[in-house]
Amino acid sequence: MSTLADTAIEILRENDRGTYTVPTKGLYPFQWNWDSCLTALGQHHFDEDRAWREIETLFDNQWPCGMVPHIVFHQMDDGYFPGPQVWATGRPVPTSGITQPPVAGFSLKRLFDRAKDTALAEARVKALLPKVAKWHRWFYETRDPRGEGLVAIIHPWEAGRDNSIDWDEPFERVPTEGITPYVRRDTQHANPAHRPTMEQYDRYLWLVEHFRGLGWDTSKLHDASPFQVVDPGFNAILIRSCADLADLADHLGEAELARENRQFAEKGIAAMETLWSEPHGQYLCRDRTRGTLVDSASVGGLLAAFCAIPTDRAAAIARTIDNHGTRFRVASHPPQDSRFDAKRYWRGPVWLVINYMIADGLRRAGEVDAAAKITASSLDLIRESGFAEYYDPMTGEPLGGGRFTWTAAMVLEFLSMEQ
Ligand code: DGY
Repeated sequence: MSTLADTAIEILRENDRGTYTVPTKGLYPFQWNWDSCLTALGQHHFDEDRAWREIETLFDNQWPCGMVPHIVFHQMDDGYFPGPQVWATGRPVPTSGITQPPVAGFSLKRLFDRAKDTALAEARVKALLPKVAKWHRWFYETRDPRGEGLVAIIHPWEAGRDNSIDWDEPFERVPTEGITPYVRRDTQHANPAHRPTMEQYDRYLWLVEHFRGLGWDTSKLHDASPFQVVDPGFNAILIRSCADLADLADHLGEAELARENRQFAEKGIAAMETLWSEPHGQYLCRDRTRGTLVDSASVGGLLAAFCAIPTDRAAAIARTIDNHGTRFRVASHPPQDSRFDAKRYWRGPVWLVINYMIADGLRRAGEVDAAAKITASSLDLIRESGFAEYYDPMTGEPLGGGRFTWTAAMVLEFLSMEQ
């Protein structure tokens, strides 16, 4: 009988396209940004060289402005919508025109710290360091125009949490009229009841067409977007990556990059306080176009623990997770909220990558028991339900795509943490 680790490695190999890995066959046939950076952590357990390659391929497709796109369309595949013709970004290898949670800086540090082949690791990090730093600079220049210390996403796909309840209110201001008629492909691969709604898709597409109409000039898109949301989870990932990149830069004698990234991280951590909600015991999103906090206690506000928030905040987050009371943790939305939907993508289901980042942050903040509970629950889920894209937090039912790459990568990570 094969072990969990064997199956995880088998899935990572099966979805490997040589220089990048697809999240899963059918539903997601290209390279996704944060999927790849987290996948590399799993690959590193059995092939260090291949892990570095995964991140390098992504950065080979960085835009001259510094943005790293959320999808790289290496090979044509009609099974996905919206494909490269819809994005029409004019890149040599076609890409989308928006970005995704910048977890690369964190991943680089983790790969570097664990590397057995240190000479290899140093050479690879040296080449990637200025590219990741350029991406971080791009974020603060284009997505934080007033210098608040926190960046905004301008499309729900950027957060990766596509249909989170966090976006419901700000999304209402995105029109649905006038978009080119289209046919969704995702619902041909996965149960439509577990995916975003048609109305949400219309709004996703409206934003894409709007940005395309502005020639994908990333210096203009933030101000031109009716959707500007400061997501605590997204910012926590960026802040953690800045802090980790600063450490790496110090190690490699890149003092200026270290200073710049440490400053981003320090300013970001201080600004995170403005998103804290005492009644919810977690951070909330800010709708930047209105200047108000969004009354939605989604998992983005718990993922904030991934960066070095104050320890009392981390302790409160650990309690909030306990209070969810779900059989499997961490639900992407609290079941006590009437808008919770146990099976619909980011409106309730558990995601292993999110569990991993929350557990890592809580452990660093000294919440060791809370982190161990998340690790144990994540592995229980896999033993019971296999390697799915996401899971019902009440029943553990596997949902979305199957034999999922980043789930497999996280299993290898969780197993190594348990040892
Ligand atoms: C999708 O197509 O579902 C993706 O999440 C967009 O990146």
